[in-house]
Amino acid sequence: MRRPLIAGNWKLFKTTAETVAFIREFTPLVKEATTVEIVIAPVFTSLVPAAQALEGTAVRLAAQDCYWESEGAFTGEVSPPLLRDAGCSHVIIGHSERRQYFGETDATVNRKVRAAIASGLTVLFCVGETLAEREEGRTFDVLKGQLAGGLADISVADMKHLVVAYEPVWAIGTGKTATDQQAQEAHAFIRATLAELCSADTAAATRILYGGSVKPDNVKGLMSQPDIDGALVGGASLKPDSFAAIVNFGG
Ligand code: PGA
Repeated sequence: MRRPLIAGNWKLFKTTAETVAFIREFTPLVKEATTVEIVIAPVFTSLVPAAQALEGTAVRLAAQDCYWESEGAFTGEVSPPLLRDAGCSHVIIGHSERRQYFGETDATVNRKVRAAIASGLTVLFCVGETLAEREEGRTFDVLKGQLAGGLADISVADMKHLVVAYEPVWAIGTGKTATDQQAQEAHAFIRATLAELCSADTAAATRILYGGSVKPDNVKGLMSQPDIDGALVGGASLKPDSFAAIVNFGG
């Protein structure tokens, strides 16, 4: 059984005070959602206060990126062991905004994924095609390349600590969600590719989240698809009531 996972990616939003205020308001709203794994990803500077505010709740903490070395002369970077030290259990790697604006490649994503898993973090590994790639009919090729590149040298045992997030770039922050069918088709392809790259058992056990304009009013349809195991939510995760409504999709 794949446990549903709903993660909020806050990107470059919220001060420390706003983060703590969100947590105080949000956690009581999702107390009943015990079957869902809930994760929030604030900015680096809010991770420690967020971890303190989350103590005693079931909500887990993620960072939005990490470096692959543990320590050294790497100005500006944050490593997986330091994320663990800050109270993170999860980390987002390979988000399309990192690929698009910060020069991340499948090779750097792969190094980060391996380092994060080695440090005991669970990775939310993002893949997804651009609008141009979809219109050229290259969606599956792009996804396959990102999966093969990003997951190179990841063992079957490591895959237990990895969640895939399918995020079509054209649906992120645009209000344009993939239809339930478009998302399901991509998720089924990703699962089939995981079976090829890893094993059938790994593919069946790995959770695949959908991301891209997930809102309270479209989450139910997406979650009813057989290969959609959760959501990675940007904009709609910034307000306690809308994120709670997404987490509580089952009623
Ligand atoms: P969005 O962002 O929900 O605002 O489209 C999703 C994401 O980038 O993870």
